[in-house]
Amino acid sequence: MLLEVSGLRVAYPARGGEVAVVRGVDLAVAPGECLGIVGESGSGKSQTMLAILGLAGPGARVSGSAIFAGEELVGMPQSRLQGLRGDRIGLVFQDSITGLTPHMRIGDQLAEVLVVHRGASPGAARAEALQMLEVLQIPEPAYRLGQYPHELSGGMRQRVMIAMALLCRPALLIADEPTTALDTTVQAAILRSFAKLKAHAGTALVLISHDLGVVAGLADRVAVMYAGRIVESAPAEQLFATPRHPYTKGLLASMPRLDGPPGGPLPAIEGQPPDPAAVADTGCAFAPRCGIARPACMADLPQPAAVGPAHRVACHAVEPA
Ligand SMILES: Nc1ncnc2c1ncn2[C@@H]1O[C@H](COP(=O)(O)OP(=O)(O)OP(=O)(O)O)[C@@H](O)[C@H]1O
Ligand SMILES: [Mg+2]
Repeated sequence: MLLEVSGLRVAYPARGGEVAVVRGVDLAVAPGECLGIVGESGSGKSQTMLAILGLAGPGARVSGSAIFAGEELVGMPQSRLQGLRGDRIGLVFQDSITGLTPHMRIGDQLAEVLVVHRGASPGAARAEALQMLEVLQIPEPAYRLGQYPHELSGGMRQRVMIAMALLCRPALLIADEPTTALDTTVQAAILRSFAKLKAHAGTALVLISHDLGVVAGLADRVAVMYAGRIVESAPAEQLFATPRHPYTKGLLASMPRLDGPPGGPLPAIEGQPPDPAAVADTGCAFAPRCGIARPACMADLPQPAAVGPAHRVACHAVEPA
C-alpha cells in the first residue's frame, strides 16, 4: 500500500474536554489507485486528510497511524512533513487562488516548483510547465504562462494549481473538492485530466467530494464517511450497484441519474448531519435519521464487517457475509 491509515482520530479541545471530528478511520490507497471519499458536509473528510499531512487546525490532537510509503506521518516533525507536501504528496484544494502567489506570472510559479523540487534548469522547467498545461487542456497554454493569477478564470486557476501539484510527479495527489466551485464543463475537463494522469503517470489519487457523481467516474474504490467514521467502503462499481448501508443508499437516491425520469425533486436524506459534539461512541450516529433503525442501533456502535470481497459496512441491519 502507498498509504495506509488506521485508527485515525482527530479531536479539538472544547469546553469540558474535547470534541472528536474524526473517530477511528481506516483506509488504504494502493499505488496508482483512486480512492473517493464521500459524505455530507462536516463528516470529517477534509480533517482526515489534513490531519495526516500535519495540517489540522491549531490544538488538534491527532492519534492513530498513517503510513505513507513505509513512513509514519502521525507525529512526524513538521519540517519533514513540509518536505513531503508538494513533493511526494501533492495537494489541491477547492480554494485555488490562495495557493498561487498573486504578483508572480503563472509560468514562473510553475517553473519554480521544478527548479526547487527537482533541480531542473529554468529552460527545461518552462518547457515542462507548458507541457503540463497542455495535458490539463488549458486553452492557449503558452499565453497563460505570461499571465498573473487574477487574469485567469476560476476554472483555469484551479487547473494551474493542479498542474503545480502534479509537476513534482507526486506518488499521491490529494484533491479536496477540486471542482466544487466550477461549472460542469470545466469540472468534466478537470476530472478527465485526473483520469489521464492516473493512467499515464500512475499517480494515486484521493478524491474528496460531497458529490457522489464526481467520484463515480474516477474512483476505483469509495469510502463513505458519516460523523467522523467510515460507514461503508467498497470497489466503486460495487458501491454504486449494491450499496448496503442505509446512509449510502440515501446518498445514492439523492444523486441525479442520467437514466432516471427527468425533472421532479430528488429524495433527500431527512434530517441534518449531527454536530460532532453531540456524537457519542454508544450507538450508530446515523440511527436518528435511519428508516430501519432498531433498538441495538441506539445502544451499540456498529463495527465495520465484511459483506463481500473488499466491501465493508458498519450497520447492525446488514448481515455480514
Ligand atoms: N480547527 C477546528 N477546530 C474545531 N473543529 C473543527 C476544526 N476544523 C474542522 N472542525 C470540525 O470538524 C468537523 C469535520 O470537518 P471537515 O472539514 O473535515 O468536514 P468535511 O467532511 O470536509 O465537510 P465539507 O464537505 O463541508 O468540506 C466539522 O464539524 C468541523 O466544524
Ligand atoms: Mg471538506
